Amino acid sequence: MADNEEHDAIDDLLLEQRKFAPTDSFKKQTLIAGTHLYDEANQDYEAFWARQADELVSWDTKWNRICEWELPYSKWFVGGRLNVSYNCLDRHVLAGKGDKVAFYFEGEPGDTRTITYSDLLGEVQKFSNVLKSLGVVKGDRVNIYLPMIPEAAVAMLACARIGAAHSVVFGGFSAQALADRINDAEAKVLITADGGWRRGDVFPLKQQADEAVATTPTIEHVVVVRRGNNAVTMKPGRDHWYHDLMVAADPVCVAEPMDSEQLLFLLYTSGTTGKPKGIMHTTGGYLTHVSYTHKYVFDLHPEKDIFWCTADVGWITGHSYIVYGPLANGATQVMYEGVPNFPANDRMWQIIEKYKVTIFYTAPTAIRTYMKWGTEAPGKHDLSSLRLLGSVGEPINPEAWMWYREHIGSNKCPIVDTWWQTETGGIMISPLPGATTLKPGSATFALPGIGAEVVDDAGVTVLKGGGYLTLTHPWPGMLRGIWGDAERYQETYWSRFAGRYFAGDGAKLDDEGYLWLLGRVDDVMNVSGHRISTTEVESALVSHPSVAEAAVVGANDSTTGQAIIAYVTLVTGKEVDEQVLRNHVATEIGAIAKPKTIYFTPDLPKTRSGKIMRRLLRDVAEGRNLGDTTTLADANVVLELQKRIADAPSED
Ligand code: WTA
Repeated sequence: MADNEEHDAIDDLLLEQRKFAPTDSFKKQTLIAGTHLYDEANQDYEAFWARQADELVSWDTKWNRICEWELPYSKWFVGGRLNVSYNCLDRHVLAGKGDKVAFYFEGEPGDTRTITYSDLLGEVQKFSNVLKSLGVVKGDRVNIYLPMIPEAAVAMLACARIGAAHSVVFGGFSAQALADRINDAEAKVLITADGGWRRGDVFPLKQQADEAVATTPTIEHVVVVRRGNNAVTMKPGRDHWYHDLMVAADPVCVAEPMDSEQLLFLLYTSGTTGKPKGIMHTTGGYLTHVSYTHKYVFDLHPEKDIFWCTADVGWITGHSYIVYGPLANGATQVMYEGVPNFPANDRMWQIIEKYKVTIFYTAPTAIRTYMKWGTEAPGKHDLSSLRLLGSVGEPINPEAWMWYREHIGSNKCPIVDTWWQTETGGIMISPLPGATTLKPGSATFALPGIGAEVVDDAGVTVLKGGGYLTLTHPWPGMLRGIWGDAERYQETYWSRFAGRYFAGDGAKLDDEGYLWLLGRVDDVMNVSGHRISTTEVESALVSHPSVAEAAVVGANDSTTGQAIIAYVTLVTGKEVDEQVLRNHVATEIGAIAKPKTIYFTPDLPKTRSGKIMRRLLRDVAEGRNLGDTTTLADANVVLELQKRIADAPSED
């Protein structure tokens, strides 16, 4: 059964023939036009990374070993000492670049702020002292639950400055999801806001935070940024306004050098079981990896580029390519708070025109949404400042790639399709825009310094055709484990194929060695570029008193990549409305995990041993003919479901 499921996920019938070589004009100004980085890294990947660490990062004490690799744990730049916030801020200011803009912040309602590197350093030093005054010391965990506002970056960098690990929870997550993550990390302080802006309205954060903190005994203080101006209740002694603490804070906080392997942050991500995993990232290796990839994948010229990554800081993309990579490289960025269709469908293009953005990094789900909205919105704006486009989060289908190239990139910008994961810390597979001939829909090749191979079920390397994506040797930004669960770390990533990191993604190699990502092969769905575990949504559904059993699958969806489809069996004699259940999931996990459709069924298709056959449910949801049903305990269950779905009113 499992085999069938996996083969389903790695079949790919697409044959894409178009190719785009770097243009002469792009090659003229690019950092890397030839293959020398690949050649260097192939000679000795450790030495290659050491050179990057030397060139891109400032160290207080140099390391004495590049990499210690004891499967499945790696340590990088062992013995080295550095401070990440010093690297992202102080050194630029000391080099005379204090007046350079770090962020052009664009609030959703239209308010703006221009923040220079000096401004940011000032804020971060003060907030570091605020954290200290609240009792935060090196090694503590601090939770951050904020909208997309500059204070999110300030809070993260302040943690890094004093050696506390941050754990950022996306502002769209529910109180329950926040509480689970705080409790797992045993965080001491929570930083949140009254509310944030979304589609013209204020969404409350403090209220959710209050609900969470009611069940998180480790939280001693809550710091609240004023953003939404919505009414909040402040609990005396526990809750403090950010602006009150900041006026009283000492402006100087010297960056303390940290061990290269000091925990920098935890970031929770979905796995195949219900409990989210606290992915651990440390200091020296991570910073090296994100600054290297940010520089070469985006061909960064910090003196002239305006970089805009549209991710939320609550995801790894925001950590690595809004906060740490770009700031370490001294880049100037745009940070936008809100949605792409407020006040109108052209907001993104209007922002690109306004700030003359040169590098734009977004997700396929967003691109497909813009495609749906039509070419009129981008056509209204001058997008000629753009010179490079990027994509991340899920496979980008060739048609979306071509649309992006034509309508956003005026047929002249290279597109870097970047494959990576929360666990990898930074980009792993991607073109180098001045060196790689592109094929629409292919992430092309592993970056210099990275080892990636496709293997078959038996773990044998595949040179052409489909299989599982694995990583063959350690890299500096790799996760250092799962917080509090060493066994799960070993089991999830290192047990499927001996000596290799298993990413959970299917991939194929074409006859020219290009890599094509084919999506997840495990029970993790990818909805609008966000990883959501089927188990988590099932658990949320079953936690409703009327629900007896639930099975959740990700079905192909032309906009969101996958859509969450749930099959629910109710407790005998109980009834519940579909909308009520969808909202229940939103309360338990967050609105992003709401099933698109819920089908009620008296029974679920199961094998004789009682395992739910998700493959069949996916076939049913996608309207496919059913394959092998011989292992089903009761084939009528699926026939009945198919009938119901065919009869159901269409949503569109
Ligand atoms: C998927 C996001 C195809 C993949 C950075 C991976 C991609 C998961 C790509 C990680 C891409 C990410 N092409 N698939 N360019 N980028 N993915 O942890 O399934 O949120 O395993 O990290 O997203 O999602 P995560």
